Amino acid sequence: MPLHLIWAEDEAGGIGRDGDLPWRQRTDLQRFKALTLGHPVVMGRRTWESLPFPLPGRENLVLTRDLSWSDEGLERTTLEEVKARSEAGETLFVIGGGEIYALTLDEAAVVHRTVVHITVEGADTHAPAMDTTWSLHSSETVPAQEGDQHDQTFEHWTRL
Ligand SMILES: NC(=O)c1ccc[n+]([C@@H]2O[C@H](COP(=O)([O-])OP(=O)(O)OC[C@H]3O[C@@H](n4cnc5c(N)ncnc54)[C@H](OP(=O)(O)O)[C@@H]3O)[C@@H](O)[C@H]2O)c1
Repeated sequence: MPLHLIWAEDEAGGIGRDGDLPWRQRTDLQRFKALTLGHPVVMGRRTWESLPFPLPGRENLVLTRDLSWSDEGLERTTLEEVKARSEAGETLFVIGGGEIYALTLDEAAVVHRTVVHITVEGADTHAPAMDTTWSLHSSETVPAQEGDQHDQTFEHWTRL
């Protein structure tokens, strides 16, 4: 099933604080764009509310229990629809946040995890725990570049 999850976490698994990312990592955002461009992206309603606009060049799909939800440039989806599309061979990226990663990890084939080398104070949203069915395929540590606040390690995980 070509469902990919992509997230950035700190050294304690924190991914968010006060409805936003707790860092600015330009290199990670560039990698995120390169990996997801051209593919549907799936996000929870709260992650959508943290974005300034729908991600260009990608079908933007939002998970919400509010049947009346709508917003320009995005579509409401369901977990069943995401599963059906990935099982039919389409590559979709789950882009957050904490609730939606936890909900979809068991369905995923690939995790693109960035470890940001800091432990943020007051993180209120966390990455899901990855069990022993996951195997680290590759890992690259990149020192902070221009536009990055911290060093980071890019990891590619696949199912055993
Ligand atoms: N570091 C990273 O890589 C990264 C990436 C993305 C986001 N984030 C951060 O994560 C935080 C947001 O994460 P979050 O956990 O608070 O929220 P979230 O996962 O973005 O969205 C949660 C919402 O998803 C909907 N939802 C949950 N389960 C559902 C289901 N079974 N079916 C349909 N809809 C469902 C609900 O929307 P309704 O309430 O409308 O029903 C729920 O309120 C922010 O701080 C954001 O910046 C970090």
